[in-house]
Amino acid sequence: MAASSVGHENWSSRSAFILAAVGSAVGLGNMWRFPAEAGENGGGAFVLFYIFCVLLIGLPVLLSEVLIGRHGQANAPESVRRLARDSNASGGWGFIGSIGVFAAFLILSFYCVVGGWVVYYIGIFAGDLFQTGLTGGAFEGRAAEDVEGLLPGLFGNGAMMVGLNLGFLAATMFFVARGVSSGIEWVAVYLMPLFFLLFLGITIYGAFTGNFGDAVAYLFTFDFSKLTPAVMLAAVGQAFFSLSLGVAGMMTYGAYANRETNLGHTSGIIAGADTAVALLAGLAIFPIVFAAGLSASIGPGLMFQSLPIAFQAMPFGSLIGLAFFIMIFFAALTSSVSLLEAPTAWTYERFKITRPLATVIVGLGAAVLGVLSALSFNTLGEFYPLGFIPLFAETNFFDTLDGVTAKLFMPIGAILTCIFVGWIADARLIDNENGLDGGLHLLWRVLVRFVCPIVLTVILVMGLLA
Ligand code: PFF
Repeated sequence: MAASSVGHENWSSRSAFILAAVGSAVGLGNMWRFPAEAGENGGGAFVLFYIFCVLLIGLPVLLSEVLIGRHGQANAPESVRRLARDSNASGGWGFIGSIGVFAAFLILSFYCVVGGWVVYYIGIFAGDLFQTGLTGGAFEGRAAEDVEGLLPGLFGNGAMMVGLNLGFLAATMFFVARGVSSGIEWVAVYLMPLFFLLFLGITIYGAFTGNFGDAVAYLFTFDFSKLTPAVMLAAVGQAFFSLSLGVAGMMTYGAYANRETNLGHTSGIIAGADTAVALLAGLAIFPIVFAAGLSASIGPGLMFQSLPIAFQAMPFGSLIGLAFFIMIFFAALTSSVSLLEAPTAWTYERFKITRPLATVIVGLGAAVLGVLSALSFNTLGEFYPLGFIPLFAETNFFDTLDGVTAKLFMPIGAILTCIFVGWIADARLIDNENGLDGGLHLLWRVLVRFVCPIVLTVILVMGLLA
């Protein structure tokens, strides 16, 4: 094994690995994207199909990814290459990891833009708490349109958008530059428990002060006539985004897992925790939104616009709003760290440079793309980089990156991973890693070899033709 391999860096314990991987999975995808997607796609039918996608597609792919990483003990492309060589297959399969690393880099660049909005709202709520005091509702005396206008107001301020984006990226770089145990693991071990504490508090608050019954009915009443191909597509895309799949992040984290860790069980815990948080996020956000008489289906504005309006009428509104956005910040940071780690690990091993230097190089690249994304909401609003492709006509830079990664890179990466693990890699090596036995093992093999690649190909084709 090459001396420069990341294999010498390890999580200090199995629970550290679980926290870091759950930290990667739980993020803006759960708190911002999931409730918005559920709201836009009719609630219950989307939620049920989402759970189906997590169990039958997400979980098997997650196990395949961490398994590749642990076998290879290196950055994602190198790990795939090693497993291929050990299976007497072509090292060319490493390109699966390369696509993933590139996709992680692209996602990082726009993820930090949204991370910047979260920081902005922390500032807004902190200022409001200072003005209104502890017990009052948020933004007392201000019209709802004013509160709703905070987000468009931010969008209109290019310099602020860029500054917040770069600030969030710099925080991410700081932790990645410090390395696996004193950086990445540190954020996960300290921030994820804090996240769960705040999350629990806010969910209970939502249940008692908000319209919990309506939220439960909305999320768990399954009206199958609403399950259209578009809704299915949205659900599978959301499952991938939420579980951090198809983009090398989980391969990279798997490389730091030790031999004693049972990857099958651990993958189950990661997927279970991520799904529980997504569902509970719905149960925290919708009761508050419904209690304020607002609509569930406004999409991305749900968290940044509806929720702050809802906090206006609630006791301790400013305080809860502040706690809410701090909680989102923790979740987003532990995810962006994993997005940066995948390309950084590759850069420093491939070019044999130090980790901090690799972090800076990748971070600068992400900063350039991030600025273009941040400006998509104002100055570059009419810039459509892939406008010549019908799927991306009239799609700005930010939405193009989001669309290309979710609609192309993630499903293609996952399909290739399944083909590689299911058909190319030596089954004995795979069985050595997956920690499953009996019926579960058989089920996983069937899912990886047949169900996942076929279902994903159908969904990808449908998505491209839609
Ligand atoms: N899973 C993260 C979220 O739900 O916000 C986003 C993400 C992180 C995607 C890391 C991909 C990744 F590699």
